[in-house]
Amino acid sequence: MSMTIKLNHTIVHSGRAAAKFFTDLFGLPAARPFGPFLDVEVSNEVTLAFMDADGMEVQTQHYAFLVGESEFDAIFGRIQTRGLAYWADPGKHQKGQINRHYGGRGVYFEDPSGHLLEIITRPYGSELPG
Ligand SMILES: [Fe+2]
Repeated sequence: MSMTIKLNHTIVHSGRAAAKFFTDLFGLPAARPFGPFLDVEVSNEVTLAFMDADGMEVQTQHYAFLVGESEFDAIFGRIQTRGLAYWADPGKHQKGQINRHYGGRGVYFEDPSGHLLEIITRPYGSELPG
């Protein structure tokens, strides 16, 4: 039996600035308003539906993105240009560093709502390049 199950969309409770922060930093087209949401679609057809949670307490979540080498350079470059804090680890102990897990590059940073974002160039569990 074969089944196809793909994550299609999720709601990101966030401050008003989060969608623009995300599209600017990741170099994506501006978010599309859809009802109460600001929709951003990433390359694997997953939509992040940013919902304005200004005035609400946002439970921070973790969102990780697998990106190409040139996208990593561009996004990480914007992180540095903006002077955003970044870490090599999710516990935020290794400030100002990136990691080299699975032979790639990875880094953690926060969006304006405090969500912990991560970009990686190799998926978790990847074989080390031979
Ligand atoms: Fe992660």
